[in-house]
Amino acid sequence: MWPMDTPNAPSRTRWSALMSGPEAAFTYRKRFLDLESSGEDIHGEARFITELVPPPSRVLDAGCGYGRVASKLTRLGHTAIGVDADEHLIALASEDPETRFFVADLATLHLRTEQEFHAVVMAGNVVTYLADGTLPAVLERLSAHLAPGGYLVSGFGLAGSVPDGAAAVDLRTYDRLAEAVGLSFIARYSTWDKDPFRPTSTYAVSVHRRTHG
Ligand SMILES: C[S@@+](CC[C@H](N)C(=O)[O-])C[C@H]1O[C@@H](n2cnc3c(N)ncnc32)[C@H](O)[C@@H]1O
Repeated sequence: MWPMDTPNAPSRTRWSALMSGPEAAFTYRKRFLDLESSGEDIHGEARFITELVPPPSRVLDAGCGYGRVASKLTRLGHTAIGVDADEHLIALASEDPETRFFVADLATLHLRTEQEFHAVVMAGNVVTYLADGTLPAVLERLSAHLAPGGYLVSGFGLAGSVPDGAAAVDLRTYDRLAEAVGLSFIARYSTWDKDPFRPTSTYAVSVHRRTHG
């Protein structure tokens, strides 16, 4: 069970309702690998985090999927840990022997390294694929894993631009729930390249910092 202090069986998420099983996991990874081989940049999130917290920092990739961001963070010199509720994606992620990956539900996450992360990242629409009603618990658990002054960074599509099977999350609600668990709003962009966020933006990269609680 290491490094969890308590058992943490993943619950059904919007992602698992849409994609589950080894084939779905393999296809999901292949989509990114194909993009990368065709010259697309698939590492904007890892670069963003590295500008925020220079290596070597401790970074938690929350909802890490096949480990795209966590493995890149490791290669950039961070100590990265990835957790995801999908055991098949974690099996693929674990092909990277340099990064630690665990099957875990973010809504009940309890790593032994609570309060130690310099940054937690939820990349690739994790927020919109959570189980309905669990965002407050997820934010509370992620805040608890941040060191004082640590950053929570998330990127997700907004109403009208959420992917299949996902649920739109209102940014005012997100900021209010974050504030309630000790996370102050720092900045918001419309891309991982830090393009400005505007009222018409369809994607939000949000940065909060653990300042209280
Ligand atoms: C669109 S994928 C993004 C994967 C990865 N972050 C990336 O950008 O490549 C969304 C991920 O969120 C994970 N997820 C959703 N709810 C979760 C929860 N409660 N606990 C852990 N992982 C969760 C899913 O299992 C899925 O791997």
